[in-house]
Amino acid sequence: MFDIKKIRKDFPILSKEIYGKPLIYADNAASTQKPQPVIDSIVDLYSNNYANIHRGVHYLSRESTKLYESARETVQKFIQAASAREIVFVRGATEAINLVASSYLEPRLNAGDEILLSEMEHHSNIIPWQLLAERHQAKLSIIPLLENGDLDFSQVPRLLNSRVKMVAITQMSNSLGTINKLDTLVQRAHDLGIPVLVDGAQSIAHFPIDVQALDCDFFVFSGHKIYGPTGIGVLYAKQIFLESMRPYQGGGDMILDVSFEKTEFNEIPYKFEAGTPNISGAIALSSALNYVSALGLQNIDRYERELLAYATKQFEQIEGLRIIGKARNKGSIISFVLEGIHPHDVGTIMDMEGVAVRTGHHCTQPVMECYQVPATTRVSLAFYNTKAEIDSICSAILKVKELMG
Ligand code: ALA
Repeated sequence: MFDIKKIRKDFPILSKEIYGKPLIYADNAASTQKPQPVIDSIVDLYSNNYANIHRGVHYLSRESTKLYESARETVQKFIQAASAREIVFVRGATEAINLVASSYLEPRLNAGDEILLSEMEHHSNIIPWQLLAERHQAKLSIIPLLENGDLDFSQVPRLLNSRVKMVAITQMSNSLGTINKLDTLVQRAHDLGIPVLVDGAQSIAHFPIDVQALDCDFFVFSGHKIYGPTGIGVLYAKQIFLESMRPYQGGGDMILDVSFEKTEFNEIPYKFEAGTPNISGAIALSSALNYVSALGLQNIDRYERELLAYATKQFEQIEGLRIIGKARNKGSIISFVLEGIHPHDVGTIMDMEGVAVRTGHHCTQPVMECYQVPATTRVSLAFYNTKAEIDSICSAILKVKELMG
């Protein structure tokens, strides 16, 4: 199905050696590597087509604008949004969540209101709401985690009530790999008139997204986690929400008319894109989305699930290794602890073997708290990883045990 050799050739960094050993890149949940077409699109833009956008009558400005706006359409199609007007380019998922907190929820939040999150959220989907709640004497309520890494959705009827003004929840946990089926939650929230923000930072790279089928009101993701560059991300919001929201930042391009007395804001989505945006980032992101689409998200999903099943089986055979998070439906992420060995030591020794993994709390301290561990080692796989690499990862873990055990 996948010509993995050919795919790997598209990613120049994958042929690198680390300490004389072939790089095994298994830190894809933190950031993914970039295929040649993404790198080329940045070089091509600056070599041939670059100027500021939306501002010039000259040829290059029009070319650049065309590429930037067509990148917006690529994003629209990729997540199946109804209109390109619903796509706002931001710096990343974090900025998108902060934008929604500030522009949508802040003017609507009162003392005693609640914001419903889950216990597996990334800090980026906790802190913007927490800051807001503190400013308005509102509070966070939390869908708890179960022992296996699933969320306890049976608590939702109790937690969703008329005090809740926003639900913000991840579609896939970055530290556990759990994939959350969100349709019932979205429907229940909508029955009470509560909007739902879905954090797609992890899910976006692993399976097809259809924001209209999901019926979420907001969806956010970062470009760098889907083989695109850093510093570019997307806020999807239903048109009706974007139109009712106040601007996030003020500056050039988000206006129609300015005087010292009054400013008339630009139409959506430009109203939310103040200042010269990350033009090359948006264009390179669209190259990444085209690259991934050509491989096919269904194929990626199938292949990564195979990798995950294989890795899980191999890891379970290692004595003293405990997998943290065994949800029924998981993406290709395995967090684990090794008995008696600190994850930072695990990560350092694995690095010496050429294996890149993340160790720490993965910006999900409540998850660590729940499992009563300070940190984990996280292997996060992408479609360019192979079963042979998983075997090498297992050898690296055995090396850790040999040196530290
Ligand atoms: N959110 C990124 C991770 O999970 C940085 O590692």
